[in-house]
Amino acid sequence: MKLKPLLVIALTSLFIQQANASEVVEQGEKLFTNYCSACHGVSSGKGMSNRLAPPIIAVKRHYLGTYSDEQSFVKAVADWVEKPDESKTLMRGAIRRFKIMLPMPFPRADVEKIASYIFKGNVEKPAGFDQHFKDEHKKGKGKGKNLN
Ligand code: HEC
Repeated sequence: MKLKPLLVIALTSLFIQQANASEVVEQGEKLFTNYCSACHGVSSGKGMSNRLAPPIIAVKRHYLGTYSDEQSFVKAVADWVEKPDESKTLMRGAIRRFKIMLPMPFPRADVEKIASYIFKGNVEKPAGFDQHFKDEHKKGKGKGKNLN
């Protein structure tokens, strides 16, 4: 029986895939800090007021509502960063409040890692966010998905 070596190979490649996935999330988090957090980070502004852009947890919730698998989520976020297009927004209220995001010419591969981190990682939540989200999205207002 040659089953055992096959099993070892299968388990090893599974392990490598998982290690790669968590490496991507780790790199994505660092890239997010460099490229996006000035506007989307928890400490942009004071809590939920005086912000420059929605906190990334809000972006995550809105995007998960429409793009529930990682591949389509990553593509939608990377397309947005390359070329924000008002006809594709999932956050119309944010555009009204902040004006549309400017295109960011970062390497696509880096933005895809950032998007994987947003999809899979534990993104931070600013103080007061849950209440804000409840207030904004009750009575069918807005499309945000209430995930916790
Ligand atoms: C200079 C400030 C700024 C930076 C830097 C920035 N954004 Fe944004 N972003 C905004 C603003 C403002 C909005 C809300 C208005 C809008 O939706 O266009 C936004 C909205 C978004 C949205 C939701 C778009 C929608 O309307 O559906 C995504 C996704 C997004 N940003 C991703 C990113 C990522 C990823 C990065 C880092 C690569 C990034 N942003 C960097 C300002 C910024």
